[in-house]
Amino acid sequence: MAEKTLEDIPGVGPAIAEKLREAGYTEIMAIAVAAPSDLAETCEIGEKKAQDIIEGAKLCADIGGFETGDAIMQRRAAVTKLTTGSDSFNQLIGGGIESQSITELFGEFGSCKTQVCFQLAVNATLPEDRGGLDSDVIIIDTENTFRPERIIQMCNYLGVDPEATLKRIHIARAFNSQHQVLLVDKAMDLAKEIKVRLLIVDSLTSHFRAEFLGRGSLAERQQILNRHMHDLLNFATLNNAAIVVTNQVAAKPDAFFGDPTRPIGGHVVGHTATFRIYLRKGKAGKRIARLIDSPNMPEGEAVFSVTEDGIKD
Ligand code: GTP
Ligand code: MG
Repeated sequence: MAEKTLEDIPGVGPAIAEKLREAGYTEIMAIAVAAPSDLAETCEIGEKKAQDIIEGAKLCADIGGFETGDAIMQRRAAVTKLTTGSDSFNQLIGGGIESQSITELFGEFGSCKTQVCFQLAVNATLPEDRGGLDSDVIIIDTENTFRPERIIQMCNYLGVDPEATLKRIHIARAFNSQHQVLLVDKAMDLAKEIKVRLLIVDSLTSHFRAEFLGRGSLAERQQILNRHMHDLLNFATLNNAAIVVTNQVAAKPDAFFGDPTRPIGGHVVGHTATFRIYLRKGKAGKRIARLIDSPNMPEGEAVFSVTEDGIKD
C-alpha cells in the first residue's frame, strides 16, 4: 500500500502542500491534530481554509502507527510483578512493577527514566519464570526517544533474540497531547488482538507542559490529563497490564509549581498513579530510585546502575 502524501488531503494541491511542508507540517497526522489558527498563520492561508484542510487530514490520517507484530498466544491472566532487572529496585517496590496499576517514574533530564522503560519493555517480553510477562509491549513515545539499538544491546545481554523482541514492542509516536490521548484507544484495540501486559507512556507530561502554558490553561490541562490517566487505568484493569509513565520534574520554577523538584501534573498524576518513583543521579554512574507515596510499601531507596547491558544492581 502506497504511503499517503499531503496531496491526498482533499483541498490540498501542490502549492498548499509546499507551504505546509515549509511550515514543518510534513505528515498528515501533524496537520490532523493542528490548531486551525496555527495552521492559518504559519502557512499564510485563511482560517476557514485551514479548518477544511484539518478536517480533510483527519479523514486521511491513520491514527494508528503501531508496528505490527506476531499475535501472541493468550495465557492465563494473573496479577504479576515485572522485574526491573535490579534486585534492589525490585525489593523497593515489593517485587517488581505491578500489573493493574500505574507506576510513575519521575526525575530530571538524564535520570534514566527512558532507560528504565527500555529495560521494562525488554523484560516484559521474557517468560514469567524470568520475571517477565511473556507479553507484547506498547510504547507511546512523545519525545521520539525510542532507540532499537538499546533494545538490541539489552537483548544480547539477556540472551534473547533481539529481532523477535523488537517485533513484540509496538511504538506509536504521539504528535501532541490530543494524539497521545487518542493512542490509548488504539492501544486498547491492539490489546484485543494480542496480549499486551505493559503499556509505557514516555513522557506522560511533556506535550501537556508545552501546550498548556500559563495559569489560565491549568484547569483544562488537568482535566484532560485526568481523563488520560483514567483511560490508562482502564487499560491496566482490562488487560491485567502494568502501566508505566514518565514525568519530568520542572528544571526551574514554572507557572504551576514554585518548587523545582515537583513532578509535572501535580495532584492529578499523583493521585492516579499507584506507585511514584523518584529517580536521580548518584555517584559513579549509579542511579537512585526513591519510592514515594506507596499504599502498601514503606518509603525507601534503592541503588541501581545503568550500563550498556541495561539496568543492573
Ligand atoms: P529525559 O527524557 O531527558 O527527561 O531523561 P531520562 O530520564 O529519560 O534519561 P535517559 O533514560 O535518556 O538517560 C540517559 C542516560 O542514560 C545517559 O546520560 C547515560 O548516563 C545513560 N545511558 C544511556 N545509554 C547508555 C549506555 O549504552 N550505556 C551506559 N552506561 N549508559 C547509558
Ligand atoms: Mg527520557
